[in-house]
Order: sequence, then structure tokens, then C-alpha cells
Amino acid sequence: MDKLMINRAGPLKGEIRISGSKNSALPILAATLLADSPIHISNLPHLNDITTMLALLRCMGVGVTVDERMSVEIDANAINDFTAPYELVKTMRASILVLGPMLARHGVANVSFPGGCAIGSRPVDIHLRGLEAMGASIEVDEGYIRARSDGRLKGAHILMDTVTVGGTENLLMAAVLAEGRTILENAAREPEVVDLANCLVAMGAQIEGIGTATLVINGVERLSGCHYNIMPDRIETGTYLVAAAATRGSIRIKDTREDILEGVLLKLEEAGAHIETGLDWISLDMKGNRPRAVSLKTAPYPAFPTDMQAQFTAMNAVAEGSSSVTETIFENRLIQVHELNRMGANISLQGNTALITGVETLKGAPVMATDLRASASLVIAGLVADGTTLVDRIYHIDRGYECIEEKLQMLGANIRRVPN
Ligand code: EPZ
Repeated sequence: MDKLMINRAGPLKGEIRISGSKNSALPILAATLLADSPIHISNLPHLNDITTMLALLRCMGVGVTVDERMSVEIDANAINDFTAPYELVKTMRASILVLGPMLARHGVANVSFPGGCAIGSRPVDIHLRGLEAMGASIEVDEGYIRARSDGRLKGAHILMDTVTVGGTENLLMAAVLAEGRTILENAAREPEVVDLANCLVAMGAQIEGIGTATLVINGVERLSGCHYNIMPDRIETGTYLVAAAATRGSIRIKDTREDILEGVLLKLEEAGAHIETGLDWISLDMKGNRPRAVSLKTAPYPAFPTDMQAQFTAMNAVAEGSSSVTETIFENRLIQVHELNRMGANISLQGNTALITGVETLKGAPVMATDLRASASLVIAGLVADGTTLVDRIYHIDRGYECIEEKLQMLGANIRRVPN
């Protein structure tokens, strides 16, 4: 397995472009199963998770044509197998997102039960209960979710007990072809949910309340193909901004949007960053200053995103002052703290809160990535550590960051991929 070797190289400076959003592309690729004519999706990020989702569609018989710019044309009419197999689902939990569309379009779906992962147990009870409320019969048998509906799903009034991005997406995709009206209460409002809803509307779906916590869907008989461009990745954007802040740098990020990560930008300004934004760009300048520590608490959008927590923990580890970082979404998403402490950070854990006292600099060390965003926090730590940092198990990072070492090299980082 490859590793990333990182040595301190001073403040990040320069300009990079952001890729399409992984967490928007995955549900939208699942949504192509709903269309009865070919659908064209562009601005897909070149990531392992996207490759896995395309492989999943292909293994179900769906026609997938990929061009050189990672745009795809998908013809779901060719589907001939309604099973999402264990071998693929175990590598990517988001495979569960094919459940709703397959059930809505074909009345049958067999999806391997997604297990937990390093950050938490990741249940799907809200997905399943919502589909049952829409008339599906669901059994879990030999590790598979076996869902059936006798005829079309029926619209229902559903209250989701917990704000769930995937649950909202699965039920939204089930509702668009259901008979009658579905109301999803306490729906997730993440920009990626909005992007999915906008794509479904482009396919002919009738959805009201997009971007709010109450989605009202009037089911239609059929959905057609369309051309859809995936939104920029707000977490990739935030990750590079935090890396620039931690290294006291000055960067400009293009092909992104400033209206989808306002909470992150406000926290960076609190840390002393000078931020400027335009329609499709964001610039950050630390004026050479050490970041100030910022406390935060993760919560559903528009609050501070859990997917940015690990990156800010790394920045706080070298910031001026003390801070607290509280993770409220996942039960085990502070695991990167242990590896950061091995690099000389001063972080203690109290339940779901990390108490951080910033140190001037960290010490390079061999460290191990445990999940996607924890990997990013270790890379950020390596950029501000004396000596060499070697990040192992970087297959995690390749799931969510396109060409991370090339993009960081363009910003002046001393980072390269080395074979084991
Ligand atoms: C999505 O995961 C993202 N993944 C995650 O990003 C992100 O961290 C998460 O939303 C929260 O924003 C994709 O979009 C592919 P949830 P998802 O359902 O949908 C509980 C990354 O790093 N819950 O919103 O799986 C659950 O336990 C990844 O890019 C239930 O209890 O997250 C958690 O506590 C990591 N029952 C909370 O809801 C359910 O049926 C939020 O989870 C479903 C969820």
C-alpha cells in the first residue's frame, strides 16, 4: 500500500481548482436508476468512491459510458439485476443509495446491509422505516436488505427522528415516482441534498421546499434523462483553506462556491484569516500570522459540518491559544486525536469533545489514516511538522480527494506518494 511522505515546506501559496462534490455525485449517480432515458452527468470527481458506484451500476447491467473528462452517460433501462452485492457495498457504504431508486422504479431491491465504519455504527433504520411507510416490505436476510413493493410505492408523511443526509436522499428518490404526495419532515438541508433535488427536478420530478427541512414531493409516472453538472466539493474546498490557514499561507481556490460553506468561512475568519470571495472562487490570506484557536461544535447544515471537524482539529493543534471541538454527529469521529498527539499535539478527550492547547509546531512521525477526513487532518499536521511525516493507509484519502498530492504540490507543499 502506498504512503504519503510529507515534509514541512512553509506557507502554502498559489491557486488550485476544486473538483465536483463526491457527496453530491454519489446520490445523483444512484438517481440515474430512476430515468427511463439516458442521463448525462458532468463534473464528476475522479475518486475511488465514484469508480465504485459506477462499477455497482455496471454490475446491475446499467449502461455506463465514461468520457475522458469524467463525464458519464448512463442508460438505466439496461438494468437486469437488482442486487447491490456485498463485495462492492463493503467498500462503500453509500451503495445503500441505490435502494430507494431501485425500489421506486422496479419494485425490487436487494442491497447488502452496509456495516459500520471507523467513525461510527452508521445505522440505516430511518431509510428502511421510511420505505416501509411508503408501502415497501423489507426483510434483512443473510446480510442483505431485501425490499419489495407490490406496485408503485405510496406517498407518505414521514418524520425522520434524526437529520440524516443519506436517509433524506434515499426517501426523496423513492418518493419522486411514488403514487401521491410524500412529505419528509426534519429533512437534511446539506447542499448535496439540494443538488440531488435539483437534478431530480431536471429529470421531471415535482419537489417543493428544496433546501428546507420539509420536502414535499408529488410523485410522477416517469422521469426522463437530462444533462446535469455536479456542484463543487465544499469539503475539498474547506480542507485546502484550512491547510493554508494552518501553514500561515495565502491561496486562491477556483471552480468552487462561497455560498455552500459559510460556517467554515466564518470560523476561518475567527482564526484570523482574511477571506475574499467571488462567484466561483475563494481566497484566504493569513498575512503570515499563526492561526488563532477556534472552538466549534458539529451539527447538521447550515451549522458547522462534521466533515470539516478533523481538519480544524489539526489546525487548532498548532494555533495560538486553547479550543474545544465537539463532535455531535458520529460517535467515534475524534479518533485522529491519538495520531495527532503522537506528533506532539496537546489534545485531551472528554466524551465527544477534544480539548486542544495549541503548540508552536508538531514533530513528524509515521501515522495511520483511519477514515477519509482523519487522513486529511494528518496531511495538514504533516505540513506544519518538523521532520518527515509518513501517512499510511492512504486508500482512505483517495476515496475523497482527487490528486491531493498534485494539488498540494501546486501550492508549494513538499509531499509525495511513496510505495510501501
Ligand atoms: C453523509 O453520510 C456523508 N456521506 C458523510 O460524509 C457525512 O459525514 C454525513 O452525511 C453527515 O453530514 C455521503 O454523503 C456519501 P447521516 P450519511 O445519515 O448519510 C444517524 C465523508 O467524509 N442515522 O447524515 O451516512 C447516523 O448514525 C462522509 O465524505 C441514523 O441514526 O450520514 C449519524 O449519527 C463521512 N439512522 C447521523 O444520523 C439512519 O437511518 C447522520 O448520519 C441514518 C443515519
